[in-house]
Amino acid sequence: MSRHFLSGAELDRATLGRLLERAQELKAAPARSHALAEKAIALIFERPSTRTRVSFEVGIVELGGHPVVLRADELQLARGESVRDTALVLSRQVAAIGLRSGSDQALAELAQHASVPVFNMLTPREHPCQALADLLTIKEACGRLEGLRLAYVGDATNVARSLVRLGVLAGMEVALASPPGFALSPDEARGLAEQMRAGAGCGRLVEVALHSDPRAAAAGANVLYTDVWVSMGDEESAAARRRALEPYRIDDALLDLGADGAFALHCLPAHPGEEITAEVLYGERQRIWEQAENRRHAQKALLEWLLEAW
Ligand code: CP
Repeated sequence: MSRHFLSGAELDRATLGRLLERAQELKAAPARSHALAEKAIALIFERPSTRTRVSFEVGIVELGGHPVVLRADELQLARGESVRDTALVLSRQVAAIGLRSGSDQALAELAQHASVPVFNMLTPREHPCQALADLLTIKEACGRLEGLRLAYVGDATNVARSLVRLGVLAGMEVALASPPGFALSPDEARGLAEQMRAGAGCGRLVEVALHSDPRAAAAGANVLYTDVWVSMGDEESAAARRRALEPYRIDDALLDLGADGAFALHCLPAHPGEEITAEVLYGERQRIWEQAENRRHAQKALLEWLLEAW
């Protein structure tokens, strides 16, 4: 059975900790590993990408491997070839397959039929590679994860879901603040936390706190996190989204409610003046650009783990 990374539920707490340690080692010494020597990795993009594509391509090269980037419209998938057949064919050519897709079902099918590791480069429900880099960034800044409070403010996107999963696994308290219609349901949030708590293998009860008031979520938080208000595919509801999400902007006043040294994170791309002010995005109270760089370091460690290099 190959290892996969579809949502983060594949990890236990010890493996997450080792992944983050290894990412820090690889960041300190980028050429240290040649775990992908003479290996090709397929990266399938059905949707646009800047960070994910570049960080995976460069990271694979740094590990001695060869990235094979495939846009969906260049594949026979676009002309009706099945996901199953694509999985069977690619498994005979490459050592692992990454997919960015508009369908969680397509990712699940790919993993079901591939005989090599499959990893999620973003689906409508999950963005676990992003959350891995986010935890790396917080660990670098704070020296630990357990016991910290992360406040996610705004539209509860795939990134919010992945942060709940991996944050809880790491022993963090995750507080979500979203307006009605843009929030995770209490049942879903608690279900995600419960699933990950089992993998955490510890007695500490880590709760996901759901708020509608962003100030309640931000109170005492070490990290304030947000994502765009109008994601890929949401363009038709853009005006309604901007109206509903207007009170959920990360600005200096919201950061002032956090713990001493609280900082902002954003998965990017950002819309300064909407979900985050330009003052925060380009100022001293953020680690957003480090976070974007950390995609590469975290994903290099992930690829090593997927290919059982350690
Ligand atoms: N955060 C993120 O996934 O960025 P891209 O869409 O540019 O890959």
